[in-house]
Amino acid sequence: SGYTDYQAETATIAQGVVESNHAGYTGSGFVNYDNALGSYVEFQVSAAATGPQSLTLRFANGTTIDRPMSVSVNGTASTRSFPGTGAWTTWNEVTLTATLNAGANTVRATATTANGGPNLDRLRVSGPGDTQKPTA
Ligand code: GCU
Repeated sequence: SGYTDYQAETATIAQGVVESNHAGYTGSGFVNYDNALGSYVEFQVSAAATGPQSLTLRFANGTTIDRPMSVSVNGTASTRSFPGTGAWTTWNEVTLTATLNAGANTVRATATTANGGPNLDRLRVSGPGDTQKPTA
C-alpha cells in the first residue's frame, strides 16, 4: 500500500489564505485559516476502491490553545483536537480512519471555534487502494 498527498494550498479554501512564512511545510505553502468559526479547507480525494483509508492531516499550531476541527468525509463529521505544536514551524499529524468510496470523495476540515483552524499543510490518504508515491 502507499499514499497520496493532497496539499492544502491547492484545495478549496473558505475563510483562509495560503502562506509560506513558517518553515517546515511540504508543497508550496500551507493554509492559514482565518480566526473564524466555520472556516474550512476542502479536499477532493480520489480512491481506487471502496474501503477504509487513513486520513492524516499535517498541521502547526503555535499557540497553547487547541484549534479543534470537524473533519467530514462525504458529509459525515467527527471532531478532532489540533493541540499546540510548540511553534508555527513545528508540524504534527492527526490521523483518522474513514471508509472512502471508489472514485470521488469530499474531505472537509472545518474550524469549530472562533480561533479558526491550525495552519494546515496537507492531507495524506493512505490505504491498500493507493498507488505508491515518492516520499516528501
Ligand atoms: C500568527 C501566525 C499565523 C497563524 C495565526 C493564527 O499570525 O503567524 O501563521 O495562522 O497566528 O493564530 O491563526
